[in-house]
Amino acid sequence: MIVTTDQLFRVAYGRFAVGAYNINNMEQTVGLFKGNIQSDAPFILQISRGARKYAGARMLEAMIRAAEERFPEAIYAVHLDHGDEETCYDSIDSGFYSSVMIDASDKPFDENVAITRRVVERAHAKGVSVEAELGKLGGVEEDIAVDESNAFLTDPDEAVKFVEQSGCDSLAVAIGTSHGAYKFSGSQGLHFDRIKAIQDRLPNFPLVMHGSSSVPQEEVKRINNAGGKLDPSAKGVDVNEFVKAIPLGVTKVNIDTDGRLVWTRVHREFFRDQPEEFDFRKPGTIYIDAYADFIAHKNEKLCSAGQLPVVREELSL
Ligand code: G3H
Ligand code: 13P
Ligand code: ZN
Repeated sequence: MIVTTDQLFRVAYGRFAVGAYNINNMEQTVGLFKGNIQSDAPFILQISRGARKYAGARMLEAMIRAAEERFPEAIYAVHLDHGDEETCYDSIDSGFYSSVMIDASDKPFDENVAITRRVVERAHAKGVSVEAELGKLGGVEEDIAVDESNAFLTDPDEAVKFVEQSGCDSLAVAIGTSHGAYKFSGSQGLHFDRIKAIQDRLPNFPLVMHGSSSVPQEEVKRINNAGGKLDPSAKGVDVNEFVKAIPLGVTKVNIDTDGRLVWTRVHREFFRDQPEEFDFRKPGTIYIDAYADFIAHKNEKLCSAGQLPVVREELSL
């Protein structure tokens, strides 16, 4: 059942983080539903502009509706990931999305506010909620001085002004993560002091952590052993840090890259070990189960595993 993102956030805030997973194709969609049912977890299914371009918005919608028929116990929200204004309006008007993200974080503060405000007005009129972004997600390197790297993090006072002026419902904050496989070097990690400072000024307001893949070294090693050429120093967020971020208001955790690594590992190993094969349904089937197990594992770390009965009860579903 599709619920609103706000409903999920209300149940989750301070208790667990809702995993927000990107989908692009049938195998990912089925694996995602399967993994969430396997772990009894609510989830956010998110669709990027790249996914809409690759598979088509209508194709994605049809796949999701078909997956729901197969997994009727699922409770989830549908979210547009990193939208521009035009894609936000298209998603809002489609009536299919629970929430949209307007990402104008590359614009100056006032422009970001103005764009977000316009999207909020259109979205709220249709019961859709809005995630916005403030700050710059970027690779935080060890050789950059702390002051310099902190300059990219979300400013807590600006966050308050931004939320008040834009009317957004949740905020993606820059707290040390970045997108993709190459995030940190050495001992860099999440800036908990910054998350706490934002929460102190915005109590009970859902914060969103982008770039939350952990890029497991074992996964990178297996991909490279099967012919891949990923940088072996690739490193992401320590999954054991999620539990510390939850009481600080991090309510949505975005994970995409790790799922791509699962796909790459399964397919590279399959064709390395069975070079005579060309039936893609065989590795596809292995991938669906591997992706489901991956989702279930992440949900354990996000503390969303086992929360479906709580969600059902609190939302009277
Ligand atoms: O943050 C971006 C997501 O990982 C989606 O990536 O735009 O390549 O689909 P994409
Ligand atoms: P990763 O690249 O760390 O998976 O982040 C995904 C994300 O933030 C999607 O919005
Ligand atoms: Zn993101």
